[in-house]
Amino acid sequence: MPDEYVKKVNEAVGFIKQKVGANFTPHASLTLGSGLGKLAELIKPVALIPYADIPHFPQTTVAGHEGMLVVGTLEDVPILGFKGRKHYYEVAHLPDAMDQVTFYVQVAASLGSKVCMTTNAAGGLNHTFKIGDLMVIRSHIGLFLPNPLLGPHHDFGNNLYFQPLNDMYSFDLLKLFKSISPQIREGIYVAWSGRTYETQAESLLLRKLGADATGMSTIPEIIVAHNRGMQTLGVSIITNVIAEDGTNATNHEEVTAVLNNQTTENKLFTTFRSFFQKLKVIG
Ligand code: HPA
Repeated sequence: MPDEYVKKVNEAVGFIKQKVGANFTPHASLTLGSGLGKLAELIKPVALIPYADIPHFPQTTVAGHEGMLVVGTLEDVPILGFKGRKHYYEVAHLPDAMDQVTFYVQVAASLGSKVCMTTNAAGGLNHTFKIGDLMVIRSHIGLFLPNPLLGPHHDFGNNLYFQPLNDMYSFDLLKLFKSISPQIREGIYVAWSGRTYETQAESLLLRKLGADATGMSTIPEIIVAHNRGMQTLGVSIITNVIAEDGTNATNHEEVTAVLNNQTTENKLFTTFRSFFQKLKVIG
């Protein structure tokens, strides 16, 4: 029986190929999370494609998530820049919620992208983290979100039914990212549905579980990227630090303000430019 979802992904892929031409093959995809769309300025564009124009492509509904695919090169690396993502909390009421959340990753994989790099805003559970720190994700705790591989197996030809996750974050990409600056942190990311931030007791629990940063995204996408054979890298921008006693006093305005302040922005621009220069060298 033909898989309707696979068909939809293929139609989206066909549309994008038509827009960018047969000669463009992306090496990497870069997901620009909440308030991070500005980083797309680093991309020398070949085509700007609104999500709304791409067949079946889920639309973003969160303020600060633009909904634009920026196809181009970043430091000469051909990439797909996804400005805005669909979060589980936007579609949790729908039976195909996780298929929507991970649709763009399936598209990137089917377009030939070898690397899946995602960014997110996160609260720091680790006592040594400071606001504005960048944390590269070494591993994650995804037990509090539905697994995107639940339900029918969408067969793209080479993706496993039972997917091991032990080697899911590429150690080579992690090392490369960390080599940019000694200030880059490394740790365990935990995510749950949102849209609430954590209670004091929940923060203490997550810390006990070994998590260094907490957020509401990324994990479903990385699982699917790994399932499709992509090398994965996740970077959290620490927008707030959770107190020693577990109090998380943050709110959406604070998170956005940190992402948009000049110091964070400069750091992100410098770091990402440098990362793609390095990626260009190792291929
Ligand atoms: N918790 C969950 N998600 C977040 C946080 C947080 O403290 N900060 C930014 N995104």
